Amino acid sequence: MQNRLLKNILVTGGAGFIGANFIRYLFSLKEFKGTIFNVDALTYAGNLMNLNDISEKYPKRYFFYHYNICDKKKISELIQKQNIDTIINFAAESHVDRSIINPETFIKTNVSGTFNLLETARLFWKDRQDVVFHQVSTDEVYGSLGKKGFFKETTPYAPRSPYSASKAAGDLIAKSYYHTYQLPVTVSNCSNNYGPYQFPEKLVPLMLNNMLENRPLPLYGDGKHIRDWIYVEDHISGIWSILKKGNAGESYNIGGDNEYENKRLVFLLCEIVAEEAGLNIEKLTKLITYVKDRQGHDRRYAIDCNKIKDTLGWKQKFTMMKGLKKTVRWYLTNTLWTERVKSGEYLDWIKICYNNR
Ligand code: NAD
Ligand code: TYD
Repeated sequence: MQNRLLKNILVTGGAGFIGANFIRYLFSLKEFKGTIFNVDALTYAGNLMNLNDISEKYPKRYFFYHYNICDKKKISELIQKQNIDTIINFAAESHVDRSIINPETFIKTNVSGTFNLLETARLFWKDRQDVVFHQVSTDEVYGSLGKKGFFKETTPYAPRSPYSASKAAGDLIAKSYYHTYQLPVTVSNCSNNYGPYQFPEKLVPLMLNNMLENRPLPLYGDGKHIRDWIYVEDHISGIWSILKKGNAGESYNIGGDNEYENKRLVFLLCEIVAEEAGLNIEKLTKLITYVKDRQGHDRRYAIDCNKIKDTLGWKQKFTMMKGLKKTVRWYLTNTLWTERVKSGEYLDWIKICYNNR
């Protein structure tokens, strides 16, 4: 049994999709009594709107810092001043398509930024064992599968996109800090998330948004690529159980046990949107357009998450239907959120995507 403080928690990337859901989740838990220090550079993917109500409701337990995780001085001062005992590193450049077009920021944030956090923690924590550094990672670091098989924690890393390679590098540096300096590090490798507050560049919110705007639904290649899908809250509850009980030095896979071909997922989304928004299903499915494939597009991801189930007692709560319905309802009732996040450079990005295909 671990004896972690989980009191002064530094969450990086807390204004992004999963980080914001994580902060919201912790404050919804009766057992959580700590304080959260959210560090976020507010890139195109970060939005303080995601946490407006939290900062109002918990002025003494939630603090925001507009810092870059690569900024040594500021991160070091913050960790010392706030006596941070837990670091959860969500901050990242997270979109594969962007990493193909502009890999440099991925290396800066996902590799150098993660290194900076680890090094600062090492210098400040010295040999303490009541602290924890949790690296939030992806199943994409394991590479691409054929028709059979699953990623296990023992599967060697074989990343194939600049995004997954930069995440793999960050994870490996984190693990090296455990082996070399005994820094209490844990890592989670999760599959594709969907849910509220996801920037509409990833498959689910992009398709939803395009359906509502009567725009084409671009499926890459033959649309038969496979991902494992998980509702964001299930990912977060997995991270929380690792923080509480996970063994230092270990990785835990988190997944939905829920493989879908992209094509099948988009048809299912059309059905749910038609039902929830009162739209015509044929009109929606006619928007599906096959476009040029993504470069180096990984064919299949599938994850074996039995370790976290067996050792930490975690399990998913959401079926695909339940999670997707919740997600569709959220986007239908939060159209202002989508309008606002798209008011930045979103349209430029969409133009780049369409020009490339
Ligand atoms: P996101 O792109 O929605 O959010 C990333 C956040 O990090 C944003 O708020 C952004 O402003 C911030 N950020 C980026 N660079 C920064 C920097 N240099 N300094 C400080 N903040 C910075 O990403 P997400 O989907 O919420 O993913 C969060 C984490 O989970 C990432 O590490 C990602 O690799 C991992 N992950 C994501 C998924 C998924 O399906 N989205 C699946 C598995 C793992
Ligand atoms: P994405 O949400 O970008 O996540 P990742 O690439 O990290 O798995 O993409 C999920 C799958 O959907 C992936 O196989 C690429 C595909 N895809 C499309 O077919 N069309 C799209 O417009 C997008 C964004 C993704």
